[in-house]
Formats: sequence, structure tokens, C-alpha cells
Amino acid sequence: MPLLLSREDVINVLEMKDCMEAVEKAFAELANGTAVLPLRINITPPDGLALYMPAYLKDSGALACKVVTVYKNNPKQHNMPTTIGKVLLQDPATGDVICIMDGGYLTAVRTGAASGVAAKYLARDDKRQIAGIFGAGVQAKMQLWATAEARELSKAFVYDISDEAIKSFIAEMGPKLDIEIAKATSADQILAQCDIICTATSSSTPIFDGSKAREGTHINGIGSHTPNARELDTAIIKRSKFVADSYEACLKEAGDIMIPIQEGAINKSHMYAELGEIITGKKPGRAGDSEITLFKSNGLAIQDAATAKLVYDKAVRAGVGIEAKI
Ligand SMILES: NC(=O)c1ccc[n+]([C@@H]2O[C@H](COP(=O)([O-])OP(=O)(O)OC[C@H]3O[C@@H](n4cnc5c(N)ncnc54)[C@H](O)[C@@H]3O)[C@@H](O)[C@H]2O)c1
Repeated sequence: MPLLLSREDVINVLEMKDCMEAVEKAFAELANGTAVLPLRINITPPDGLALYMPAYLKDSGALACKVVTVYKNNPKQHNMPTTIGKVLLQDPATGDVICIMDGGYLTAVRTGAASGVAAKYLARDDKRQIAGIFGAGVQAKMQLWATAEARELSKAFVYDISDEAIKSFIAEMGPKLDIEIAKATSADQILAQCDIICTATSSSTPIFDGSKAREGTHINGIGSHTPNARELDTAIIKRSKFVADSYEACLKEAGDIMIPIQEGAINKSHMYAELGEIITGKKPGRAGDSEITLFKSNGLAIQDAATAKLVYDKAVRAGVGIEAKI
């Protein structure tokens, strides 16, 4: 009988630290050839977009498929969210579906976790660093949580075009992480003062001037992921050691790298490594304190599968969720 886990159940059992461990292992499996990661399947019914994201992680024992829909008219016409996601977890031994869980919070945490792992391997390792978060929405909060797990932070700045979003970000994340969070008055302030920067906005055009980024900065870019949209400008891509979640995803989905390639500013070989190659030591990470490192995340189904398995195991141990007779 499959276990059903609501959003609240997932929130109750999922912690960033555990998720970073599971996601790190998933990226290592991708690099070691024990992960199966088919391309995302897109279907476009008349009113929206449906995405199917399957993955299998042999060593982690995780077999799952996330179903995500983006229906822009949902809020007005049906009083439902635009983006809805559920994850179906299977038993790799029998193929049976053992759990169906809400995928909204899980997606935000697994996206944060990938950035946290990237910061763990690529950011400078000095103590008491300053984090700078572009965007103050759902993903941005998890980016700060993961950054705080990866490095000891003395302070964080958040920058958003919405003051309301900034207020809610500071009110929620300040007490949760017990760190001082201040509103940045400009994008330049983040570039001038921060050691680790995460971009997690809904912008489809560059959100800062990459020529102004400080040497030694680590950047996680998680926002835009369509060929014509980008949060990062050509200058910062050119100046950075570029690490992809997946080369294939970057070349199909990430305007951040595809646009500079189309402009002729760089070629594909500018992509230095995949995150899994750094984790497994196949390629070295940061080379010195002055290098700018950049991780581009498009979001991979292996992150969902690893996180769903983690959530399921913890829920079973804690007796959370309800079993459905289907
Ligand atoms: N890489 C991944 O795995 C992954 C996973 C989920 C979502 N995403 C992407 O992350 C992005 C953020 O998603 P979300 O759910 O947090 O959205 P959200 O709507 O909750 O937050 C986005 C925030 O960005 C702000 N913003 C827009 N333009 C800005 C600009 N120029 N400068 C500063 N702030 C700006 C908005 O005001 C808003 O507060 C989206 O592009 C989404 O598609 C990526």
C-alpha cells in the first residue's frame, strides 16, 4: 500500500543537511555512471504544461518520477497554484509505487541542497563569510539555508525588486537560521560585500553587472532555465570557472550559458566540469582564492529521486503519513 505524504509531512521530516548528503551522493552517482537520467518529457495540454522527470539511482536505491504542471490560469480560474508537483517513489526491487508525496517543498529544498553542495566544494573555505541572495521568493529562502549549512556565515544580504518579499524573507529566515539578514539597497552592494552569491529570481534578463563581481566569489545560479532567458550576463560567465549540474541540461535549457555561446563570447569548452566530477575528484575544484567559481543549476530529476527516497525513509521511521488502499 503506497504511503501518502502531504506537504506538511514532507516539511516535518526533510532537513537541509540530510538533503545535501543525499543530493551530493546523487551527483556522484551521475559522474560514476550509476544514475539513469532520461531527458525531461514535456506535454502541452491546451491550458498548461506538464513535465515528467524520471530518474534511477542504483547505489542510493531510488527510483522516482516527478510530475510537475505549470497552469498559468489556475489561480484565477480554479483557485489553485500555478505550479503543482507530486513525486512518485517506486521500490526498485519490485517496481511497485511505494509512496506519493507532495513535490513543492521537496523541490525547493533539493534545489537549495545542490547549491549547498556546490558551495561546499567550490567556495573559499574561510570562516565567517557573507552570503548575498538575489530574489526573496520560495527558492531564495532555501538557497540561504543551504549556504549556511555549507559555510559559517557572519551575515547575509538579500536583494529583490519587491520590498514585501524581502520583509517576509527576513522575518522567516533570520530566526530560522539565527543569522543577521539585511536588505541590500542595490545589486552592486551584494557584489561588493558578499563571498557567496545565489541568484534565485524570476527575471529573464541579467540581474547584475558581472564585471563588478569581486575576485574569489562563488556564485550559484539557479533561476532562469530556458534557452532565451538568463539571470547572469556574459561578463560573469566569461570571468568564472563554470560548473554545470549537467552539460546536457545546460546546453538545452540554460540561456545563462547558451546566449554567450551564441554571441561567440565563449564556446562549449568554457564549461569546466559537472558538479559530480568535482565531488568525485575527477576534476579539481577551486584553484586559489582569487578565482570566481560559478555553479549553474537547471534542476535534475536525480535530485528529486534522492530527496524523495530520503523523505520516504524518514517518514516510515517517524510513522508519518497515511497508507492508501489502491
Ligand atoms: N534550478 C532549479 O532546480 C530550480 C527549481 C525551482 C525553481 N527554479 C527557478 O527559480 C526561480 C525562482 O523561483 P521561485 O519559486 O523562488 O519564484 P518566486 O516567484 O517565489 O520568487 C522570485 C523572486 O524574484 C524576484 N525578482 C524578479 N526579478 C528580479 C530582479 N531583477 N532582481 C531581484 N529580484 C527579482 C521577484 O520579485 C520574486 O520575489 C524561477 O526562475 C524558477 O523557475 C529553479
